[in-house]
Amino acid sequence: MGGADGAVRRLSGQFISLEGGEGVGKSTQTARLAAALEARGVHVVVTREPGGSEGAEAIRGLLMQGEVSRWSPHAEALLFAAARADHVEKRIRPALEAGQWVLCDRYIDSTRAYQGGQGIDDAAILALHAFGSKGLLPDRTLLLTLPAGTGEERALERDQGIADRFGARGSEFHAQVAAAFDRIADAEGDRIRRVDASGSPDAVTGRLMDALSDLLP
Ligand code: TYD
Repeated sequence: MGGADGAVRRLSGQFISLEGGEGVGKSTQTARLAAALEARGVHVVVTREPGGSEGAEAIRGLLMQGEVSRWSPHAEALLFAAARADHVEKRIRPALEAGQWVLCDRYIDSTRAYQGGQGIDDAAILALHAFGSKGLLPDRTLLLTLPAGTGEERALERDQGIADRFGARGSEFHAQVAAAFDRIADAEGDRIRRVDASGSPDAVTGRLMDALSDLLP
């Protein structure tokens, strides 16, 4: 329908989230995927959770530091939802409305996998998301996967014994997180694509690009 002056055009970018457990290489791959998209002519706003806006970064400090027992699972779920509400309102939604692509390192599925494993049910997490962020979901979620235990080993090496409140938890916790990600991916196959995170960084980035091929201009 767009006229010659381009006045009528779709002003909506694609919202992509990257998810996975500890040590799957998510942060590295977020940067690499952004570079690969830019090379294809797609400008992306790169962001992360918890954080990504001034208010959400302040909440991130509360969430990531201190004793594992600092927050109850309920308080923690509310803090993640509050951080996300600010991030969506101040950064993600304005970018999408301006037609930009947004690439987010972790989003709602991390809350479902991490807090969901601690007795907060999925429906409650989604209800908080509906209230805080109008239920905004990514157009595509890329779930990086590694065989059980492999990611934790990588994370231990990376963190050199100074893990944050989440990395510090035991292997049982991380196995629960992986199982929860699996269940969500099985249930929401239209949105979520599993991507094998093993092999060279280049190979992984290639697989991520393949998993976005239908969205690329
Ligand atoms: P981060 O420093 O981003 O590390 P990484 O993503 O490389 O693991 O740590 C974020 C931590 O917060 C991570 O352990 C997962 C956890 N988390 C939740 O528990 N719930 C959430 O909703 C989000 C976004 C993160």
